[in-house]
Amino acid sequence: MSEINENLTPESVQQEALAEIGKAQSASELSEVYNAFLSKKGKLSQLMAMMGKLAKEEKAKFGKAVNEAKQAITEAFAKKKEESEKKELSERLSKEKIDISLPGYDFGVGHINPYYQVIDEVTDVFVSMGYEVIGGTEVESDHFNFELLNVPKDHPSRDMQDTFYLGNVEKLLRTQTSAAQAHTMLEKEVKTPIKMISPGKVYRRDDDDMTHSHQFAQIEGLVVDKKVSLSDLKGTLELFAKKMFGEKREIRLRSSYFPFTEPSVEVDVSCFNCGGKGCAICKGSGWIEILGAGMVNPKVLSDCGYDPNEWSGFAFGVGVERVAMLRYGIDDIRRFYQNDVRFLKDFKGE
Ligand code: DAH
Repeated sequence: MSEINENLTPESVQQEALAEIGKAQSASELSEVYNAFLSKKGKLSQLMAMMGKLAKEEKAKFGKAVNEAKQAITEAFAKKKEESEKKELSERLSKEKIDISLPGYDFGVGHINPYYQVIDEVTDVFVSMGYEVIGGTEVESDHFNFELLNVPKDHPSRDMQDTFYLGNVEKLLRTQTSAAQAHTMLEKEVKTPIKMISPGKVYRRDDDDMTHSHQFAQIEGLVVDKKVSLSDLKGTLELFAKKMFGEKREIRLRSSYFPFTEPSVEVDVSCFNCGGKGCAICKGSGWIEILGAGMVNPKVLSDCGYDPNEWSGFAFGVGVERVAMLRYGIDDIRRFYQNDVRFLKDFKGE
């Protein structure tokens, strides 16, 4: 393919290549040099191709000279390549130096919503007393949300809990976590003692304002065993109040009415702000209402398969937002679900 080229000699190629290698400043210039001299179509290959056309006696001498040129060029090339790689690396290292004294990025660590802080805290208190945490579903049947809790269809207490029905009167958004009581009792094939809490969302057709919301959370509690008494309930809730609101807190029980408990009580805690003297938070009374409770109605026990002659129990229901509002001085219940980032950002808990 190649014609003999008088201008292409091993010496001239070597000289030219070494000069080019010397001049090359970058990896890309070096690769141009490689292409021109060392690649398959480069000048060294062209010299090799010329050999075939030489007379026998010239071949050996020419071949030796080509080999010497090739070796010199390859060595010079490798050396320059190594130097240039080192130089480029050190340039990059000095340019890309990391200044570890610069301030880092602010990743904006968030806070746990007070709503979940309260659920976690209340859960911890009861788990430490040996309670099990039970889940539940927000879509409930009328049977579990009302009937099994001693609230038949035309019972007046249904008016207190205006319900979101889902298409028909059997399916609804639960109005109270008390539905978990009936589930827990009925799910026990062999009736054994129960000690459970069940936190979750509930829904009511309320017009939202500062203290009312169509959605809020409750934590239900249920204890069923042989010989459970009202004093067990009082002792449990006293401990709960002290853990949540401080060691000095006391509780008082006021008579109340819930269809699923008999007797029923409303539980007040002595005001953690004024210690009982009377202030704006407790509206001057020294007491703050925190939950509803009572002894499980024997009818509820027997409808759920627990013989009331053998078993007794107590139950309670805590309003999560109410506790959070009291503890953290939050003025409006709607803040819990509005997801206003300013509220969530400002709110750092304790
Ligand atoms: N379910 C009641 C409500 O939503 C709260 C409640 C009261 C739950 C007494 C109980 C209880 O378990 O014993 O108003």
